[in-house]
Amino acid sequence: MSFFYHIPPSAAPIYEKDIYNCVRGFLGVEDYIYKFRKELEEYFQTRNVYLVSSGKAALTVILQALYRVAGDTHKDEVIIPAYTCYSVPASIIKAGLKVRLCDIDENTLDFNYSLLPDTLSERTLAVIPCSLFGILSDIERLHDIVQGKGILIIDDAAQAMGVSINGMLAGTRGDVGIFSLDRGKNFTTVEGGIIMTNRTDIADEIEKILSKTGRYSKLRQLVILLKATIFSQILRPFLYWIPANFPGLGVGGTFYSTHYVIRNMSNTQAGLAWNWRANLTRFNLARKENTEYYYRELSGFNNINCLKSGPEATYHRFPFYLDGGKKLDMNRLKLLGMSQRYPDSIDNIPELQYKNRNNYPVASSVPKRLFCLPTHIKFKKSFRLKLIQQLKEIGMN
Ligand SMILES: Cc1ncc(COP(=O)(O)O)c(C=O)c1O
Repeated sequence: MSFFYHIPPSAAPIYEKDIYNCVRGFLGVEDYIYKFRKELEEYFQTRNVYLVSSGKAALTVILQALYRVAGDTHKDEVIIPAYTCYSVPASIIKAGLKVRLCDIDENTLDFNYSLLPDTLSERTLAVIPCSLFGILSDIERLHDIVQGKGILIIDDAAQAMGVSINGMLAGTRGDVGIFSLDRGKNFTTVEGGIIMTNRTDIADEIEKILSKTGRYSKLRQLVILLKATIFSQILRPFLYWIPANFPGLGVGGTFYSTHYVIRNMSNTQAGLAWNWRANLTRFNLARKENTEYYYRELSGFNNINCLKSGPEATYHRFPFYLDGGKKLDMNRLKLLGMSQRYPDSIDNIPELQYKNRNNYPVASSVPKRLFCLPTHIKFKKSFRLKLIQQLKEIGMN
């Protein structure tokens, strides 16, 4: 494996026909925003769908809307798992609210629900379960815990689009839900976010906020079109090493930042979603198939512990724990698409200046032990074999 051959850790391919529709969207030949919204409403059986510039933008707008719906200035805290994507706390701060953490269950990466009741208070506005890696959070249990307390649930399905449990699709199980359409998510519009809710009061506030929110200029839409064209080529391992090694591109990195602009999604991005249902179904099938493969292959490794959600899950990336103090040469394994995320628990993000630090033993132990394998459709069988072979060679079984 050479430096010039790098398999992406996660990916959602963009095809030539997607680019063609992206161009049509850019030229305004068809109203793709209308089409995309209608299709999402139908697929998710949701009355209100809104399209914005990113998952963080979606979360920020939702939180601003929920604060208004609650109508109580004291309700300014949002509870999230102490181990999750850094965009989640960033969205809370961007919305002018406060982050409150709850430790996690290492088997699910979801909240530790036995600790959650003590985290709630009169100030709790909302709780955000994050369904990390596509492992769906136990939102039914969460409903029972918050019932009657005036606390809202945001079903963050950024990593779980198209995944369902007990006949309910991720993103539709709370008061309001989000998806991210960033590169490498379940499917992509280069950047983008979806908000969905059946609650009229929340929808009304979101609409008011979005009516005052900016749009993409033609120049920015052109940049999206160019990026889509580049991404449609760059997922090939003999090209992917280029973005993977340009620090400025932020590919694969996890950064905390509240410096992002919230926009309404453009018709150019929505053009990329012209065939989203068929693409999402195919991409998720590949994820499921790879997940099943890893469960089979990794069951024989002594130091590897898979999560408890089982081979029927649709992992966005396949997470596992490496126990027994083994040191890995990540530089080598990275080239095969293996990754580590996230770098630290949320209380340890320096910019957040979280007061109650080091109180989340499980969340702070996870980043050192958790590794992820690719599950995306571009991850060929020969890559999988090579990766398992390498894991064997470094003596993990
Ligand atoms: C759980 C979760 N929520 C929110 C987001 C934010 O989405 P975006 O990157 O589109 O801003 C992400 C992104 O990775 C995520 O993983």
